[in-house]
Amino acid sequence: MYRIVAKKELAPAVKSLTINAPLISKKARPGQFIIIRVDESGERIPLTIADLDVQQGTVTTIFLEVGKTTKQLGSLKEGGSLADLAGPLGKPTEIKKYGKVVCVGGGVGVAPLYLEAKALKDAGNKVISIIGARTKELLIFEKEMQQVSDELHIATDDGSKGHHGFVTDVLQKLITEQNIDMVLAIGPTVMMKAVAKVTKPHNIKTLVSLNPIMVDGTGMCGACRVTVGGETKFTCVDGPEFDAHLVDFEELMNRQRTYLEEEKVALERWKRCHH
Ligand code: FES
Repeated sequence: MYRIVAKKELAPAVKSLTINAPLISKKARPGQFIIIRVDESGERIPLTIADLDVQQGTVTTIFLEVGKTTKQLGSLKEGGSLADLAGPLGKPTEIKKYGKVVCVGGGVGVAPLYLEAKALKDAGNKVISIIGARTKELLIFEKEMQQVSDELHIATDDGSKGHHGFVTDVLQKLITEQNIDMVLAIGPTVMMKAVAKVTKPHNIKTLVSLNPIMVDGTGMCGACRVTVGGETKFTCVDGPEFDAHLVDFEELMNRQRTYLEEEKVALERWKRCHH
């Protein structure tokens, strides 16, 4: 039913899957996500939406192969299919005219950032983007981000492209040079935490898209619980985007590590059966 119509490898261990899902492609808005299951006995994992094609009725998702489920997903072929796909889930990003917006993306977080940057640009904002990765080989969506940004900055940890260092170094510099009205950051939790730290003293509205462990995606199980402004929120229904200055990042990172051991075991078991 959820047939894979195209598959690409964008960078080492970074895959893109375009899946046939006409209803979702019609309904999804920037900022929302999907939850998939590779097979009947598989776990449910949330994935971001990198692109939508209403004409073709497809949804494209981009992910990094890190554990058993993402590796299994990455091993599917064009023409193959997923057991199920739920979405669009979560609240769309609030797209309006803020003025000058900085979009910060790290790793595969650049993929969902693209649709949001595009919508922000269409809404009349000046969009400055900063995208980063560990090395230039892992940098994705540079061309796409270029198309929807007035200015594009690149940062790599090893200096193989753009600024040698973190996206937050570039952000810090931009903030001291000009007035920024809003910052949107999507990437690894440590990166989003660092972005919040940079913008807070300047009181710049900052949104981050959180990526906790999820199960049902409908607010029932509590797996995606996060603390925002001292209140308990469920990322899948109240988010995934929240005010970065109110998020308890330490708690989020601790909770993301909850099943590290189990994840390792599952991956080892899967590798033994498939290699
Ligand atoms: S994933 Fe279960 S409550 Fe959000």
